[in-house]
Amino acid sequence: MKPKVYVTRLLPRVAMERINSFCDAEVWDGELPPPREVILHKVHSVEGLVCLLTDKIDAEVMREAPNLTVISNYAAGFDNIDVTEATRRGIIVGNTPDVLTETTADFTFALMMAAARRILEADKQVREGRWKTWGPMTLLGQDVHEATLGMIGLGRVGTAVARRAKGFGMKLLYYNRTRRQEIEDELGVQYAEFDRLLAESDFITIHVRLAPETYHLIGKAQLEKMKRPCVLVNTSRGQVVDNMALYEALRIGTIAFAALDVSEPEPIPVDHPLLTLQNVIITPHIASASVTARTKMALITAENLIAGLKGEAPPHSVNPEVLRGSHQSP
Ligand code: DGY
Repeated sequence: MKPKVYVTRLLPRVAMERINSFCDAEVWDGELPPPREVILHKVHSVEGLVCLLTDKIDAEVMREAPNLTVISNYAAGFDNIDVTEATRRGIIVGNTPDVLTETTADFTFALMMAAARRILEADKQVREGRWKTWGPMTLLGQDVHEATLGMIGLGRVGTAVARRAKGFGMKLLYYNRTRRQEIEDELGVQYAEFDRLLAESDFITIHVRLAPETYHLIGKAQLEKMKRPCVLVNTSRGQVVDNMALYEALRIGTIAFAALDVSEPEPIPVDHPLLTLQNVIITPHIASASVTARTKMALITAENLIAGLKGEAPPHSVNPEVLRGSHQSP
């Protein structure tokens, strides 16, 4: 008998084939996430759950899932899952880091360039027939090359952004919980205290995980400390930035521009004040959305699931202590 699993969204075909080869999988095939009642109902009888960052997998879901041994998240981030509760219950949690790092860094850079050089406004002008002539003052933006880039968080994606920025001759500052001496040595990145980074950076990119200590890490006080003009880019999690403080800072010109791939909430409502501003770009959480990255993420999701069901160490797990038996059972 194949183990029963529930998959909350159709993944790329190669991954579905792999999952189906080992599991008896039921898949939610809607475009939108399954309603919470559906997840609560479906997990009753499964040993494995494949979920997305749009699915909140908390203690209530786990209580409804007496046979659950593995949760395989189709994302590198795992803030949608109560990992502490999963660990307590001996449920292994898998995620998909590494394979989306370069893709996410590409997109971070794309947002930074688009914001700096006002690409969306320029395209709009052309489409609306407002391109009358070449003008000395038309759509002036900011240079990226040789500017100072401040990276908040220097993990995988932050480091990949730093590599790109080095090629642009940027001065690189970073703030991180711990010093990354090897990256400082390799890329010439300079550690800066948080306030110094805010004050000296022409561009700031955010690469931290969402956790209680990073919730609204960027709010009114931090925006006010930023150099003028500063461009803020966020491809991490929307909740790291206080959207209403950001709206106000953009409106009154405290900061020049923001480029956000993530928002709070997601999707951002179409009548959100941020969407009334010209100096903001918002994309729908697509930084990892290349065919290659999403396919690799799906394959890792499948391998994490299958390994977890076999009681083996998944290629990527955020709570490996479960398999080492060092967790506390409920
Ligand atoms: C992740 O994986 O955490 C990204 O936010 C989406 O790919």
